Amino acid sequence: MLASEKVYKRITTNALIEMKASGTKISMLTAYDYSMAKAVDAAQIDVILVGDSASNVMSGHETTLPITVDQMIYHASAVVNAVKRALVVVDLPFGSYQSDPKEALRSSIRIMKEAGAHAVKIEGGAEIKDSMVRILNAGIPVMGHLGLTPQSIYKFGTYTVRAREKAEAKKLLEDSKLLEQLGCFALVLEKIPAALAKKVAEAVKIPVIGIGAGGDVDGQVLVLHDMLGLTTEFSPRFLRRYMDLYDQMITAIKQYVKDVKSSDFPNIDEQY
Ligand code: KIV
Repeated sequence: MLASEKVYKRITTNALIEMKASGTKISMLTAYDYSMAKAVDAAQIDVILVGDSASNVMSGHETTLPITVDQMIYHASAVVNAVKRALVVVDLPFGSYQSDPKEALRSSIRIMKEAGAHAVKIEGGAEIKDSMVRILNAGIPVMGHLGLTPQSIYKFGTYTVRAREKAEAKKLLEDSKLLEQLGCFALVLEKIPAALAKKVAEAVKIPVIGIGAGGDVDGQVLVLHDMLGLTTEFSPRFLRRYMDLYDQMITAIKQYVKDVKSSDFPNIDEQY
């Protein structure tokens, strides 16, 4: 934290908007369980996202599509139990909001009520406008998500950079303005050209949080397991790894196996 930054005991949606206005960058990471969320919150992260990436990271699915509202609630309530300071945002999973606004509202209410979430995140722009409005009208804060939206992977066909072409870039800029106008409190931009992300961040007053969207936005988000090096099969250019946790775990577990096999563990001080 910079010395000039305002200290927040609790991060709210208003605090994030204030942070953008004052030029304070917003930090965001995913978490899906109590122990990890406790560490992330203790490290003074601003926003914890209970992402539908839990589908990949926690369950080993190839895409985010299989995860259900019940499973998101399970992960989110564990995170909420751990968190004292961060704003907890929970993804609406695939299939829980696309078919009609009433269903979108029902899913959001369940997530807020049963998990104790502070806000929901939804992928998409103009095409899900009615669902957004319905949720926002119920007083539920919504974070938007544009660019690479992994729930649409079978439409895109690949996980490559989005909005390189003029028409898609134009729609993304229009969608960003629309989400602000509807009342979203923040926006995630995933895997788009840095110049376009900068343009969006300058065009809207709500915070723009990037993942693979360059540095000229209001904050950054990464998947916790990726930045800790717990996942190893995934190495996009935007990912900075801060640890090699997978390798460190293997080393520790191998040592434990060795100690058990050799009867080194437990020793005299480790028994009753
Ligand atoms: O589910 C997730 O982890 C996300 C982030 C990549 C922004 O949506």
